[in-house]
Amino acid sequence: FNTLDDFHFEDKTVLLRVDINCPLDKETLKLTDDNRIRHIVPTVRELLDDGAKVVIIAHQGRPGDWDFIDLQQHAECLSKYLSKQVRYVDDILGDVAISEIKNLTPGNVIMLKNIRELPYELEKKSAEEHANSELVKTLAPLFDYYVNDAFATAHRSQCSLVGPPCVLPSAVGRLMEKELTALSSVFSDTNHPSVFILGGSKFSDSIKVMDRALTSKAADIIILVGLTASAFLVARGVDVGEPSRKALEAELTPETLDAAKKLLRERGEHILLPFDVAVEEDGKRKNMLVGDLPINAPIYDIGKGSIEKFTKVIDPAKTVFMSGPAGLIEKEQFTAGTRDLMTAMAHSDAYTLLGGGHTVGAAERFGMSERFSYVSTAGGALETFILGKPLPAVEALRKK
Ligand code: 3PG
Repeated sequence: FNTLDDFHFEDKTVLLRVDINCPLDKETLKLTDDNRIRHIVPTVRELLDDGAKVVIIAHQGRPGDWDFIDLQQHAECLSKYLSKQVRYVDDILGDVAISEIKNLTPGNVIMLKNIRELPYELEKKSAEEHANSELVKTLAPLFDYYVNDAFATAHRSQCSLVGPPCVLPSAVGRLMEKELTALSSVFSDTNHPSVFILGGSKFSDSIKVMDRALTSKAADIIILVGLTASAFLVARGVDVGEPSRKALEAELTPETLDAAKKLLRERGEHILLPFDVAVEEDGKRKNMLVGDLPINAPIYDIGKGSIEKFTKVIDPAKTVFMSGPAGLIEKEQFTAGTRDLMTAMAHSDAYTLLGGGHTVGAAERFGMSERFSYVSTAGGALETFILGKPLPAVEALRKK
């Protein structure tokens, strides 16, 4: 595929897709971490310095989710890092957006509305089908180039990722280039024992990763934490209690439950689950054995004993990959699982790789992000890459 080195951007209008999907505070809906925004600065700056007119498209959350919000804060934050105003335009395909794009002058940048406002953005379609969308048909004639710097979403075959490269000369941005280069050199030669720590809330994604990681022998041991662990406890027949069951509702379908049961049955000896958890009672952290569940309080972290047990597994590993936090890191009293497992990774001699917006954000907050071999801005895309599966957004760029 092409990189920024392959084109001259002076006076050209560039459609730049980035991934600045950030963790938010659930109450204030303010960004709690801007790591991904900082990582796209080199690409934006280079394009602007080259005299391009840059139009940024990006997403935040998914429709229906609490973190599906507009990109006003993102634009303000990027303005701060660029020392240049990134005007937020609350429109994508309407007259307002079109006139803003047409009136852009070289060296200036705007950011359009959350691209997932378009109902077809999330539809799983081929690149060619997406190229026929209203998005591509309306915007493509206004642009000279498409640049994709959204490595963290490269595993999705979504409209703004795979459609434009079918019709516009396209390139990867600097971040995408860096991630692909670093990860390619790393995963061609995995050292064993290899431990994967999978957490967070995207349980249906974790299931697929586990299956392939174990089949392909990319992972020898998988440690489950976060909501993913709770889901597997349910699959094992544990009653986690009403609040945790509710938290799992969206992802825990009969299909994912069956898949989890199958993994436990067939690959159980490679899967480690917490034997104790931390719940919130009267605003406080309380340790509890899994055997003593259910409880009418939410599980927000793995327990003390499990942290110790997992630390011993991480210690002799030669490769450790962590994606997804171990607990609700937005609340200080539930950061212990994530923080302590990261500390164990940092102390080990293993090649350590951290992925996932929330995970990387946590490492930053703990002041630990310098202590890993490589820190990716991606979660799901990184996992897809590790497992040797094609990344639709990268494939779409390759074709051109
Ligand atoms: C991510 O955070 O993994 C990417 O932004 C993709 O988000 P998604 O899982 O909602 O598609």
